[in-house]
Amino acid sequence: SEIRHYSFTVVLKNTTRLCATKPIVTVNGKFPGPTLYAREDDNVLVNVTNLIKDNVTIHWHGVKQLRTGWSDGPAYITQCPIQPGRSYLYNFTLTGQRGTLLWHAHISWLRSTMHGAIVILPKKGVPYPFPKPDKQKVIVLGEWWKSDAEAVINEALQTGLAPNVSDAHTINGHTGPVPNCSYGGAYNLHVENGKTYLLRVINAALNDELFFKIAGHDLTVVEVDAAYTKPFKTDTLFLGPGQTTTALLTTDRGIGKYVIAISPFMDTVVSVDTFTGTGYLIYNNTLPSIPTTMTTMPPVNATWKTLVFAESLRSLNSKQYPANVPLTVDHSLLFTIGVGIDPCATCSNGSRAVAAINNITFDMPTIAILEAHYYGIKGVFTDDFPGKPLMPYDYTGVQPTNLQTMHGTRVYRLAYNSTVELVIQGNSMLAPESHPTHLHGFNFFAVGRGLGNFNPAKDPKKYNLVDPVERNTISVPTAGWTAIRFRADNPGVWFFHCHLEVHTTWGLKMAFLVENGKGPDESVVPPPRDLPQC
Ligand code: C2O
Repeated sequence: SEIRHYSFTVVLKNTTRLCATKPIVTVNGKFPGPTLYAREDDNVLVNVTNLIKDNVTIHWHGVKQLRTGWSDGPAYITQCPIQPGRSYLYNFTLTGQRGTLLWHAHISWLRSTMHGAIVILPKKGVPYPFPKPDKQKVIVLGEWWKSDAEAVINEALQTGLAPNVSDAHTINGHTGPVPNCSYGGAYNLHVENGKTYLLRVINAALNDELFFKIAGHDLTVVEVDAAYTKPFKTDTLFLGPGQTTTALLTTDRGIGKYVIAISPFMDTVVSVDTFTGTGYLIYNNTLPSIPTTMTTMPPVNATWKTLVFAESLRSLNSKQYPANVPLTVDHSLLFTIGVGIDPCATCSNGSRAVAAINNITFDMPTIAILEAHYYGIKGVFTDDFPGKPLMPYDYTGVQPTNLQTMHGTRVYRLAYNSTVELVIQGNSMLAPESHPTHLHGFNFFAVGRGLGNFNPAKDPKKYNLVDPVERNTISVPTAGWTAIRFRADNPGVWFFHCHLEVHTTWGLKMAFLVENGKGPDESVVPPPRDLPQC
C-alpha cells in the first residue's frame, strides 16, 4: 500500500450557471471538487486549509475510519470545525475498501458546492470481479441554487418554513442547455464505439434522490457504496444523496448523440417531478448536425418513478456469498423517522419544521461528542437515546395528536463488537416521504424492507441473511421500513442521519457511541495534535 497526499484549499470561486455569476465555496476552485484517487489499503493524507470566512469540515462519506474517528468529519460529532485561516490534516486508511465513494463538507449546507468523488481502485494486481473496463468516468450529480445555499437555509430557519428547492440539477457541475446564455453548459460524455466504460455515478445532491438514465443504453450495476454487487442490468439507476453506483456501459450504438437525464424523486410534490437535468453521451465521429436520440426516455412521471424506486430497493444483492451478515442480534432497535412541527416564538411563521428519530430532535452540541467521550467531559451529551419510539406511529396517516418532539443531544451506547439490528420506520407525522439514511463508521447489510408498519412477528422471517446488499446509505421507502444489521466493531462516535440535508438540519440525526474494546487494537486512537478547537 501507498501513502497518498492531497492538498484541499477551501476558497470562494466566481462561477457561472443559469446565466448568472456568483461566488461559491469550492475546494481548489473546482465544482465539483477534485477526485481523490487511491487503492485499497492505502493511507490517505488530506491537508485541508480553510481560506473562507465560515467554519468548514470535510467528511469522507463511506470511508469506515477504523478507530480514526477524528478524521471522519461531521462538525460537532467527531471534531470541532476548521476555523478561517486554519488547517487540519485528515489521516485515514482505506482498509479493505475499494469502489466509488464521495467526500463532502459536513457543516451547515456547504456541501451543496463542496463535494467530489473518491475512487478507490483494487490493490495492484487484483482484478475487478467483472469484465475489465476499457475506460472509467466519474459522474457527480448535484443541485444548483441561483441564490446562495447558505442564505437559503438561514432564511428558512428564521421563518420556520421549508427552504426553497434548488433551481437546477447538475451533471459534473453542468446544468444542461440554458437558452439565450453565453454559457451553454451541458455535460458531454464523449465515447468510442465498441468499448466498455465503468461509470462511477455519485449523488452529491443536497436534498434530492435522483434517477439517472442514458437513452438507448442499458447499464450493469456492479458495485454500490464501495461494495461489490451481483451484476444487475437496468435502464435506470436510482441514487439517494450520499449513495454511489458503479455500472458498466457498453457503447454499441456506433454513432449518435443520446440524452443523459437525471430527475428527482419527490413523493408528495409531484410538480417538481418533471424537472430534469440533461447531458449527452456522444459517439466519436458523430457530426454536430446529427439529431439527439432520445428514443427510450420513459415518461417522467410519479408512477414510473415509484416503480423504479421499488425495483432499485429489491434488486441488489451482495457479490459475496454468503455475505458476512451478523446472525445473532445483541441490540434490536426500532427507529421511527419523520418530520413534525414545533412552536417557535422567534420564527416569523410562529412555528417551525422539525424532524426527529424516535421523537427526539437532535440538538447539536457546542463541542465535539467524540472529544467529550474521549476526555470524559461532562454535560455535552447524554447516553439515553431511546431504542424504541416514544410515541405511537402509523404509516396510514393517522396522525399522533402531538406533532411536537423532545429535544436532546442523546447517543445510543453500543459495546465493542456487539451486533445491531435496526429497523428504520418512516412515520407519517407530517408527510410520508422516503428518507435516505446514512450511518457513519460502518457498512451495514440491508436485510429487509417493506411497506406499511413493520410487523415484528412476521417481517423478520423474510429477511435476507445470505446475500443482502452492503451499503452505507439506504432509502427508507415512503411510509415503509428498512431493516439493517451491522457489527459495532469500530470504537468511536458515529453519526446516523437522513442524507436529505434539510432533514438533517431539522434534527433527523443521532449518534451511536461504540465503546472501546479490551484488545490492543480496539480503542479510538489519541487525537491528532492539530485537531481543531471549538
Ligand atoms: Cu455524507 Cu453525515 O454524511
